[in-house]
Amino acid sequence: MKNKPPDDARIRHILDAKKPTMNKTIIPTILLLAIVGCKDTLPDNTVRVDSPDKNISAYIFLLNGGIPAYTVSYDGKTVIDTSTLGFEFKDMPPLTGNLELVATETGGENVTWEMPWGEQRKVVNNYSELLIQLKEVTAPNRLLNLRFRVYDDGLGFRMEFPEQPAMQEVVIMDENTQFKLTGDHTCWWIPGDWDIYEHLYNTTKFSDIDAIAKRNHPDLAQSYIPENAVNTPVTMRTADGLHLSFHEAALVDYADMTLKVDKEHLMMQSELVGSDRLGYKVKRSLPFTTPWRTIQISEDAKGLLASRLILNLNEPSKLDDVSWFKPKKYVGIWWEMHLNKSTWDMASGRHGATTENAKRYIDFAAANNITGVLVEGWNTGWEHWIGFEDREGVFDFVTPYPDYNLEEVVRYGREKGVDLIMHHETSAAPRTYEQQLDTAYALMQKLGIHSVKTGYVGKIIPKGEYHHGQWMVNHYQKVIETAAKYQIAVNAHEPIKDTGLRRTWPNFISREGMRGQEFNAWASDGGNPPEHLPIVAFTRMLGGPFDFTPGIFHIKLKPYKEKNQINTTLAQQLALYVVIYSPIEMAADLPEFYENQPAFQFIRDVGVDWEKTEVLDGEVGDFVTIARQEKGTGNWFVGSITDENSRNITINFDFLEKGVQYKAAIYKDGPNAHWNDNPTDISIEEATITRSDELEFRLAPGGGLAISLMKIE
Ligand code: NOJ
Ligand code: CA
Repeated sequence: MKNKPPDDARIRHILDAKKPTMNKTIIPTILLLAIVGCKDTLPDNTVRVDSPDKNISAYIFLLNGGIPAYTVSYDGKTVIDTSTLGFEFKDMPPLTGNLELVATETGGENVTWEMPWGEQRKVVNNYSELLIQLKEVTAPNRLLNLRFRVYDDGLGFRMEFPEQPAMQEVVIMDENTQFKLTGDHTCWWIPGDWDIYEHLYNTTKFSDIDAIAKRNHPDLAQSYIPENAVNTPVTMRTADGLHLSFHEAALVDYADMTLKVDKEHLMMQSELVGSDRLGYKVKRSLPFTTPWRTIQISEDAKGLLASRLILNLNEPSKLDDVSWFKPKKYVGIWWEMHLNKSTWDMASGRHGATTENAKRYIDFAAANNITGVLVEGWNTGWEHWIGFEDREGVFDFVTPYPDYNLEEVVRYGREKGVDLIMHHETSAAPRTYEQQLDTAYALMQKLGIHSVKTGYVGKIIPKGEYHHGQWMVNHYQKVIETAAKYQIAVNAHEPIKDTGLRRTWPNFISREGMRGQEFNAWASDGGNPPEHLPIVAFTRMLGGPFDFTPGIFHIKLKPYKEKNQINTTLAQQLALYVVIYSPIEMAADLPEFYENQPAFQFIRDVGVDWEKTEVLDGEVGDFVTIARQEKGTGNWFVGSITDENSRNITINFDFLEKGVQYKAAIYKDGPNAHWNDNPTDISIEEATITRSDELEFRLAPGGGLAISLMKIE
């Protein structure tokens, strides 16, 4: 049973009772902070906004000295304690205090909108809003607004710089947004790296977070971890079992927010990614708003996964017609390079991207209900890629290698109903890419190619910029907007993190931004451990779709790689097509390893675009079970994955349609399956299932379960 949220009368009563205390300026500041840290003793200038279901409340107030602050409660209990907000600028006094409340405005919305493709077709956007207008007490009387939106599954708030005489432009040196925790929570975190998100997740108490220890990973082509900070989404579980996840929404023309860890005060504070070249964090002309700072709150882990808060905090779509892109499964000339069977460059004599090889993949796709083929290494420049400092002007996005006939490959694909996915590796030289954007996209448009995978391997040129700084955020945005003009969808690798912009720009279909399958082919640390994806599902995936590239059947990688392997069972590789959401899902293995494999039928059958998603069960870092209904067919697919521990799961099929029978194909770990000892032991069974069925399944260590449920008409 939930406690009732305190009613306004009680709040007023509490505030009145405490008023004298608040006025005693002789109380030392630290003690004062401790007192106001509790919701029952908020200052009398407190304003409050509740979620539509009244479970979550945000309290916003000014501390002594006019310092803006907020707390958050869930079910009557404080979950974010007194946390202050403020900015430091270049050549201008900070805006961290000396503010007064001018006015407030309340609002809200309860609407349903549709995604062109997604985890579900319809999304409910239901929130209460509070706008708080603040003004500096003394000249130059600068203005700063705070906008809070509170949902049933969390909240977002942002700082808004309205048009005003005293400020036309700001150069932000620091944004000081605090998140004061109420305990030493269990955290799932990656370091606040300014250059890459491809780290393994760590599970520690908040007070044990040590991002500095994650410096100098030998497998990262770029990495910069200046402080003990984490990147977002960072997910936590409190001692009471409440789940929290911190992230941001609508990151546009601003720097990525990492969160600096203050162990002593159990506090996180925003640390924006900077630029050594420019010497500041963010430069903006007024008016502008910061991205939304978000806190998702759920009683259980699965509730985090069902939340669409990040998407809802983004603007509606700016693209009227996106029918030119269709969600798809794809294969490609890709894994063979990561296995070092072939190479991207031509000079090695083992070039992967030949016309003949591309046609082989097209034939394979066409025969197996797969509608996309990615070809990497098709264009000139790869001889001068990793390890070279001078990468400006090297890659050419219109000139194929002589053994690759681009037009012919496109023509052949079209004949077979298979679309080519273009590849642009920028080698982290964004200026070179920007110079060629129009010509490169015009070529794609001429050839009728509607999607591109981009890449940004290496340290950014110009020196002093980082992948996640404002300058690069603007680059990624320019790419998306330019691509949209040419009806091109983008899947970015080494991207800026996903903050839900796909709502506004649906052509930002997917991205990397986590440690993908490729690490299993070459990482020096043994690859992704079995717990990797059961953590990623509750962290990175809260941001949005990702291009993990599942479906490796030849798990031990011999003879190509003697020291590397995939650390899951085969059944888990299948389950990932359901567990991981992306409107493009790769069948990443070499076609020859799919031959005569009955389990491949699941990849042929599985959907990529969903009418509905039901998160059935899960615990962060342990396991997750998701069911998704395919758009258009009404068929359902279930995926479940576990960490290194074997476990029994019970699936209640009551999500299925009433009165319908489903022909089920069940792909489960065989009796001896084990991610390391026996990864390919799989058993495939058929059954008829209806919504009254409840079935128990055993997942092997590092194992999984995949079920297709086709309607029997
Ligand atoms: C890194 C990407 O993550 C990978 O998928 C791609 O194959 C290489 N860059 C080459 O662009
Ligand atoms: Ca990568």
